[in-house]
Amino acid sequence: MTDFDPSCDDILREIAGAPSPDALENVRIKVLGRRGSLTVAMRALGGLEPEERRRAGAALNAAKERITAALGEAAARLGRAALEERLRRERADVTLPVPVCGAGRIHPISQTIDEIVAIFGEMGFAVVEGPHIEEDFYNFTALNIPPEHPARQEHDTFYLPTRPDGSRLVLRTHTSPVQIRTMLAQRPPIRIIVPGRTFRCDHDATHSPMFHQVEGLVIDRTTHMGHLKGCLIEFLRAFFALDDLPVRFRPSYFPFTEPSAEVDIGCSRRHGELRIGAGSDWLEILGSGMVHPQVLKNCGIDPSEFQGFAFGMGIERVAMLKYGIPDVRAFYDSDLRWLRYYGFLALDVPSLVRGPLPGGAAA
Ligand code: PHE
Repeated sequence: MTDFDPSCDDILREIAGAPSPDALENVRIKVLGRRGSLTVAMRALGGLEPEERRRAGAALNAAKERITAALGEAAARLGRAALEERLRRERADVTLPVPVCGAGRIHPISQTIDEIVAIFGEMGFAVVEGPHIEEDFYNFTALNIPPEHPARQEHDTFYLPTRPDGSRLVLRTHTSPVQIRTMLAQRPPIRIIVPGRTFRCDHDATHSPMFHQVEGLVIDRTTHMGHLKGCLIEFLRAFFALDDLPVRFRPSYFPFTEPSAEVDIGCSRRHGELRIGAGSDWLEILGSGMVHPQVLKNCGIDPSEFQGFAFGMGIERVAMLKYGIPDVRAFYDSDLRWLRYYGFLALDVPSLVRGPLPGGAAA
């Protein structure tokens, strides 16, 4: 037996009085470290007579438990003290003036999403989100785009490497997979919009490989094409802040809607300048249609009972039109001069309650 004192009063006193985490660690090493007094005493047990070994071993184990508990308590106490000290040191005086006033700007994409959400929110739509990396089933198959369907090629899809089971994940090419996720997860009535990032292998002045869409979906027992038209006309007039904005529905095709319609808004071009509003020209602005019965079936919804509409719109496109932004690539350059020019002040929170959204659209 060494000179270790199993009552360990001195050690416990030292632990309780340790002024810092470093001091505490030193005590721990002195006692429990590889050459610590308790470690050495434990090692010496092997040389004792069995009877003596049992007695001394029990005493040392009890001492070790008390020391370990005391170390834990002391560490917690020192942690709390350090946190309090930090909070005292790093306290911010919120009454001081802001040093550089108004330097930050809200990105036009964020602002446009907030505007869209404000308008549809007022109409009773809830905001839903979904994953950027998507399974083929949600991005294509459940949307009535089976393998080999030509629409798959048109999507310019980014695929992830093939998995051992032969399947491939995709970067979602549109926000429509969130239609499927929502219909599989909740029963009608459904009334949602889905703003978010989308990805297609396409890059020029009006296309970016990463862009944003907002999807809309309404499913219940009675919603028909008239509601689709009324809802989108109402939205477009509120968004562009033009009460008399002409809106045109053109027959079109999407595998997941039937019938499908592309939506145009009126515009005019004079001296190479584009103006949104009544004029002699049209601009395509979004895709829409009545949800295809097969898509409802794919989601376990009975198409003889439920129906509804869906739409999808490019956010960059409407932001460019509304705010006169000429090149989509600038959205992602993080050029501060661009952001100061096209960005929004943090207090410009879009809300229909506070009056019309900013308009004066020209591009
Ligand atoms: N997902 C379509 C696209 O990206 C848009 C769309 C959504 C069309 C919903 C109809 C209904 O082009």
